[in-house]
Amino acid sequence: MFYIGGKITKKNRMEKVELKIDYTIYRESYPEEYEDLCRAALNVIKKAYCVYSGFAVGAAVLMNNGEVVCGTNQENVAYPSGLCAERTALFYACSTYPETGIKAIAIAARDHGMEVEDHVTPCGACRQVMAEIVQRYKADFDVIMLGRKRTIMIKASQLLPFSFVMS
Ligand code: THU
Repeated sequence: MFYIGGKITKKNRMEKVELKIDYTIYRESYPEEYEDLCRAALNVIKKAYCVYSGFAVGAAVLMNNGEVVCGTNQENVAYPSGLCAERTALFYACSTYPETGIKAIAIAARDHGMEVEDHVTPCGACRQVMAEIVQRYKADFDVIMLGRKRTIMIKASQLLPFSFVMS
């Protein structure tokens, strides 16, 4: 994320700021270095428990030690009690290998059995968790959001400007 900068005007001490993010789009393809990870995310979708939404999500986390940890969304009749695939995988990864750190996460989804056309995007809560992981391990990581037609790769640190921090 780039801070484009702003000017403080003398009149009202106001500063206008612009933020820019950068990411890569892959059309009908996946990033070459993460093809196996993408396949793992696609494969695990079938293990999702999504009886309420019909939206099945798979996440595959590549740790810095080469381990791949997968997770799926787990829904619950008391809706907010469920958990997204990303957090299922990330929390398991960080609790199993607390010292290791994360290199990348691939996210894939099927909507009522159909692979999504466009990249699947993590929700705000998952982005907040990713922001914390960047901070915790002092290292950014790649987020690959899969879609049949369009896949996007972006750095985790770029996904949630103004994430919550306690100073
Ligand atoms: N979901 C995820 O697991 N990850 C996302 O990135 C978006 C949403 C889940 C939550 C819920 O079980 C279902 O998809 C529909 O929102």
